[in-house]
Amino acid sequence: MENKSHLTAIKRNRLSKPWALALAYLPNECPRAQVMVLDYGCGRGDDRERLTQMGYDAYGYDPHYTVNEHSIHDRIYDIVSLVYVLNVIQNPQERLETLQKGWSLVRPGGHLLVAVRHAKEVVSASGKKEPPWERLDESGWCYRTSRGTYQKFFNNHEIEYLMDNATDHLGEGHFSRLKPGIYIIKKED
Ligand SMILES: C[S@@+](CC[C@H](N)C(=O)[O-])C[C@H]1O[C@@H](n2cnc3c(N)ncnc32)[C@H](O)[C@@H]1O
Repeated sequence: MENKSHLTAIKRNRLSKPWALALAYLPNECPRAQVMVLDYGCGRGDDRERLTQMGYDAYGYDPHYTVNEHSIHDRIYDIVSLVYVLNVIQNPQERLETLQKGWSLVRPGGHLLVAVRHAKEVVSASGKKEPPWERLDESGWCYRTSRGTYQKFFNNHEIEYLMDNATDHLGEGHFSRLKPGIYIIKKED
């Protein structure tokens, strides 16, 4: 089935939880206008818009919703985010490449924010009317909808292993877990 991952992008009325947690966690020594951020896989762009309103120099990229990929590749950023992007990508190689791409756009000394759906949600959602769950392997669950969308649920080990690979084995010590499935990774200066 064709993966229509863009259909997973929701309208947001406030800053997403991963971005709110990241901004509370990160040092904020310079004026916001000097902090360049990129929301990679920004969907409808609501986080980017909110970050702009908050004073950040904010950019967004989404293969479906934006068309300015060239310009976002021309620079590197203080903070790059992948918010609920990796979990909608069905192909494991594409997941890794997307994470590598996001990491490559972080400046030395900058940060990558990664948020994925977490395996513990499977338990809380199991009582609700959801599409049929499929067990992938011992590491996780996923579901596919009739609309052609896909959702994968990661456990800690799985997402941390992927981040380790994408960052050339920086090591798990460099990953700050803000909440299950929400991480900040700092790039060395
Ligand atoms: C669940 S939405 C999240 C959107 C936004 N980050 C948010 O939290 O509101 C997932 C988004 O990932 C985008 N996406 C899918 N594959 C991607 C890829 N390889 N690189 C970047 N974005 C991708 C989709 O187009 C979709 O808009």
